[in-house]
Amino acid sequence: MLPKVSCQQRPTDAPTTMKNILVINGPNLNMLGIREPNIYGKQDYATLVAFIQESAAKLGLTVDVRQSNHEGVLVDWIQEALGKFDGIVINPAAYTHTSIAILDALKAVALPAVEVHLSDVSAREPFRQISYAGMACRKTFAGHGFGGYRLALEYLTTL
Ligand code: DQA
Repeated sequence: MLPKVSCQQRPTDAPTTMKNILVINGPNLNMLGIREPNIYGKQDYATLVAFIQESAAKLGLTVDVRQSNHEGVLVDWIQEALGKFDGIVINPAAYTHTSIAILDALKAVALPAVEVHLSDVSAREPFRQISYAGMACRKTFAGHGFGGYRLALEYLTTL
């Protein structure tokens, strides 16, 4: 007799349901390469975008990579992702530690979301120890530099 398998279970060798991913970057990430290179590295934002696009292509994913310095724009993008994207990778930057609006938007759309930080926020100032956005994310990758975005995309393909 065949074992009973829940219809919600995805066999490990089945193709991922993830195809189209929205990658959202928050304030000051456009200043990569200039801002605090000892913390965030010397590579610029365009290089990060190229890295994310290349990582996504290798995983068979399509990505739309966006950056804004404005909290409301980030909230709008999260809302607009519903029905258009299968998952979200988000580095809310400083809004990580302040924005309940971004947390609520992620909860509202309920898309699988992964939080990324270039630096290891857990080893930094006390005010960086809270992540509101992280409360609505399935995973967090922090302290892996650009590689954190690849890890986030890889994780989404396992869902
Ligand atoms: C950051 C960490 C945040 O605390 C900071 O405000 C940023 C970048 C990171 O990627 O390490 O702007 O999200």
